[in-house]
This record gives sequence, structure tokens and C-alpha cells, in this order.
Amino acid sequence: MLIDILSLFPEYFESPLNFSIMKRAIEDGIITIRLGDIRIFSHDKHKKVDDRPYGGGPGMVLAPQPVVDAIRSVKSEHSRVIYLSPQGKKLNAALCKDLAKEKHLVFLCGHYEGIDERIMKEVDEEISIGDYVLTNGCAAAVVAIDALMRFIPGVLGDLDSAKRDSFEENMFACPQYTRPEVFEGVCVPSVLLNGNHQEIEKWRKQKGLEKTKRVRPDIYTRYLLEQVITNKNKEKVP
Ligand SMILES: C[S@@+](CC[C@H](N)C(=O)[O-])C[C@H]1O[C@@H](n2cnc3c(N)ncnc32)[C@H](O)[C@@H]1O
Repeated sequence: MLIDILSLFPEYFESPLNFSIMKRAIEDGIITIRLGDIRIFSHDKHKKVDDRPYGGGPGMVLAPQPVVDAIRSVKSEHSRVIYLSPQGKKLNAALCKDLAKEKHLVFLCGHYEGIDERIMKEVDEEISIGDYVLTNGCAAAVVAIDALMRFIPGVLGDLDSAKRDSFEENMFACPQYTRPEVFEGVCVPSVLLNGNHQEIEKWRKQKGLEKTKRVRPDIYTRYLLEQVITNKNKEKVP
């Protein structure tokens, strides 16, 4: 997958792209990330990219010319252009899976008060990483890329590990334990030590569901609805 990140701060990404699984995915050629600097597209002699908002108000707005030119410099008919914005569709696991199927993603990172609305004609969709406002879109791009790349075959090595993570099947993953068996007087649950894989799976699912119900009743409701639909479909099979 090719990913273009268009921002005012290409150097921001040097560190996050250079660690752990993201670094390996890049080294293995599974993803290629290009860092575009919006400023170099500015026609202004001082490379200015922002201006005051029409109608007044605080702050500055990213001007259309450099941003539109930056997008057009990388965009083709196969590209999906995403503006990272607090006003977008909220990023979740389902959206990450969908994005992971693309050949070319372009992430536009805004700054200041946001971008001139006329830039939106070059954008396919707006995506938000949560209901809060960041000072710029760079951190959101890192979050989105990290979350979606886990669903690209080869990135995690074993794609099954993503299938066991939270939000699969509308529930959280189970609690995990590792050595030692007793830590500060607290034992690993005995079921995990008995070698009975059926019992272990049952316990894990139960614990995942208990926490989902307690912490995220909205997701737990989706789990229950899914169960009703699955059972109804089973009844239909003669
Ligand atoms: C200060 S914000 C602009 C917020 C805008 N004035 C508003 O209230 O909707 C500057 C930039 O940060 C990025 N940003 C802020 N919050 C975000 C979020 N929750 N998800 C994704 N990007 C975000 C966007 O690229 C945005 O253009």
C-alpha cells in the first residue's frame, strides 16, 4: 500500500515511522509512506500557506492553493483522499479494515483553525480519531495508519492475532497473564494453567464480555444484537 501524508510538518513523522511494527512494515515493503510538505507548493514568495478567515474570528485558515496543489501532485484515479478532521466519521476497527484494502491512501493533515472549505472538492472523506480537537492532524495520521496497517496481510505476521483483539465480534479481548504464576500474592487464574483449551476459550470469552458490558454497554448491545441475528439465521436453515 502507498500512503501519502500531506502536512506542514513532515519531520513530525520521522520518529513514529521508525519504530517497531510500522518500521518493519516499511522495511518489508508492505507499506510505502511518502511525506509531502504542503508549504513547498505555495505560490507565495514567503511560502505562506495560511490566511485570516473571511467574516472575522480568531486564528488562521489553511489556504486552498497550496493544499489543492499538494493533493493533486500525488492523487490518481485509484487514490482515496482523507482529510483528518474532528468533523469526520469516527475511526473504528471496521473503517480501518476497509481502509486496509486500498492501494493508495492520501492523508491530509490540517492545522490552525482548519482548511478552506473549497479544498473539500479534492477530498473523498473526512475521518476523525475521536470527539476532541487536536492542534493539528499529524498525530491523527499516525493513529490512523497504525490502526489500519494491522489489517494489511503480512504486517502482523500472523493476521489471526488481530482477530483476537478488542472490537472483533463486538467485544473486548480477554485479560492476559504471563510469568510468574504468582506476583505480589496475586495468582494467575487456575483455568489458564490446566491445559484444557475448551475451558480456556470459554473463560476468555466470558471475561472479555464481562468487561465490555461494564465499560462499553454500547458495544455489548451490538454483541447481543449480533447473537439474535445469528440465532435467527440458524433457525432458518432446515
Ligand atoms: C485545531 S484543529 C481545527 C478544528 C476546527 N476549527 C473545528 O473546530 O472543527 C486543526 C487540525 O487538527 C486536525 N484535527 C483536530 N482534531 C482532530 C480529530 N479529532 N481527528 C482528526 N484530526 C483532527 C485537523 O486536521 C484540523 O484541521
